Amino acid sequence: MEKREQLYEGKAKKVFLTDDPDLLIVSYKDDATAFDGQKKGTIVGKGAINNRMTNHIFKLLEKKGVPTHLVEELNDRETLVKKVEIVPLEVIIRNFSAGSFAKKLGMEEGIKLACPTLEFSYKNDDLHDPFINSYYALALNLATQEEIDAITKYAFTVNDVMREYFAGLGIELIDFKIEFGRYHGQIILADEVSPDTCRLWDKETHEKLDKDRFRRDLGNVEDAYQEVFRRLGIQ
Ligand code: TMP
Ligand code: ASP
Repeated sequence: MEKREQLYEGKAKKVFLTDDPDLLIVSYKDDATAFDGQKKGTIVGKGAINNRMTNHIFKLLEKKGVPTHLVEELNDRETLVKKVEIVPLEVIIRNFSAGSFAKKLGMEEGIKLACPTLEFSYKNDDLHDPFINSYYALALNLATQEEIDAITKYAFTVNDVMREYFAGLGIELIDFKIEFGRYHGQIILADEVSPDTCRLWDKETHEKLDKDRFRRDLGNVEDAYQEVFRRLGIQ
């Protein structure tokens, strides 16, 4: 597979064309941002951890019937993926109160919800990714009803699989954000699953092992990413 010119540079990843029009190479960066890019920094080693963790979890999800964009891990930071058209929805599942949910509803963080919730944000940095519902998504032509149904079904499966998997590593999956893409008419899981996009708390101590350490200046950011990676046991 030949790597060609850069197609796009996002906040955490670069995307390159290849000699196959159906395939792209994603390259994970150590750059970290928060609050729509207002806060910027570097988390040393993050790119490799997020790349390898995403691929590890995507393989597990494939086994459980969730199609993903993963084709092949090329090296520590780079992965060959299917070229999708990203559905402009951030799909957020929550098992416990935290972050914007806790703030909006005046709750402490870490309260177990009676059942998992799903919410959509419209992926648009200029608008700060506003919260929308499935009716808005349909009205704005962001996705079809069939696509929303597939996304919803897959998102809850991702939650079931990841919750159980992380529990086995002594980690509580508090919440996470995923993104889907269209590939030859099918909805598949794209983007990443990493401490950048999940809230992961140690089950015993409730220590935060995710990007909230960076967002909230809690310190030991690299250590948290390394600790999650160590528990995955894929070194
Ligand atoms: P929130 O509580 O700030 O709405 O975040 C919910 C989840 O989504 C949390 O696991 C962090 C993740 N997330 C992203 O992956 N990207 C983002 O831009 C934001 C705001 C949250
Ligand atoms: N997407 C956020 C940013 O724009 C990052 C985050 O809070 O995860 O920088």
